[in-house]
Amino acid sequence: MNILLLGYGKMGQLIDQLATKAGHQIVAKINIDNREELDDLNLSLVDVAIDFSQPEAAVDNIKWCINHNIPVAVGTTGWLDRRAEVDSYCSERGGTYLYASNFSIGVNLFFKLNKQLAKLMNTQKQYSVRTKEIHHTQKLDAPSGTSITIAEGIIEQLDDKTNWVNKEAAASEELEIISERIDPAPGTHEVSYSSTVDTIDIRHTAHSREGFAKGAITVAEWLKDQKGVKSMDDFLQFD
Ligand SMILES: NC(=O)c1ccc[n+]([C@@H]2O[C@H](COP(=O)([O-])OP(=O)(O)OC[C@H]3O[C@@H](n4cnc5c(N)ncnc54)[C@H](O)[C@@H]3O)[C@@H](O)[C@H]2O)c1
Repeated sequence: MNILLLGYGKMGQLIDQLATKAGHQIVAKINIDNREELDDLNLSLVDVAIDFSQPEAAVDNIKWCINHNIPVAVGTTGWLDRRAEVDSYCSERGGTYLYASNFSIGVNLFFKLNKQLAKLMNTQKQYSVRTKEIHHTQKLDAPSGTSITIAEGIIEQLDDKTNWVNKEAAASEELEIISERIDPAPGTHEVSYSSTVDTIDIRHTAHSREGFAKGAITVAEWLKDQKGVKSMDDFLQFD
């Protein structure tokens, strides 16, 4: 598969390394300072693009791919206020793109498992639920985007939870997300249901960035033969 890399920072470089090792070809590595290379690119050589750039670049990059009929897997975060606009742009022009805030296959399975467990727990009022995320100290945002998705999945299923708080819950309708910053710590997300007699825990631990990079490559392999606005649920064939 011939891949165009949009964004060649930490994620772009790792994807380059892993995709090349897997036998794929990287046709160009585009950063903020060599965008003119896009003008000289032989577009017939490109099967798919992978974008891990920056929030202010992502929308233009996606639109460029749509206009040049190149399916694009997008991992860049922080541009979601323009999601509806990009979805319409893609649909109107018959393009193909997939956005995932987290490309780790394991995290996406965890999201699903979390919702299914919450659905079962909705009738088991003897359990109280709490969630926790642990990351390294360079991570400035809290709670993590992944933990927000987890919390939203629980709130969707549990009738007596209405909102999440990033501290100990003070009211029964609040779902707590505890954020811990410890070095060195892989990204860890936990959901815990406790009763007086037992506890059920589910936990996802990322060991490195490789899960995101490998997930993006695997999704790109699938996406090159798809049409339209796609999601990780489509890729994983959930529901
Ligand atoms: N979805 C996921 O699984 C996942 C995982 C990790 C990171 N991310 C997100 O991916 C993005 C990139 O992460 P990173 O750690 O590689 O960041 P990074 O800062 O190391 O790299 C970003 C790169 O984008 C380049 N860039 C800026 N403007 C550009 C433009 N107009 N065109 C092309 N390239 C441009 C920069 O030159 C830089 O090299 C961030 O938004 C991050 O939050 C998502």
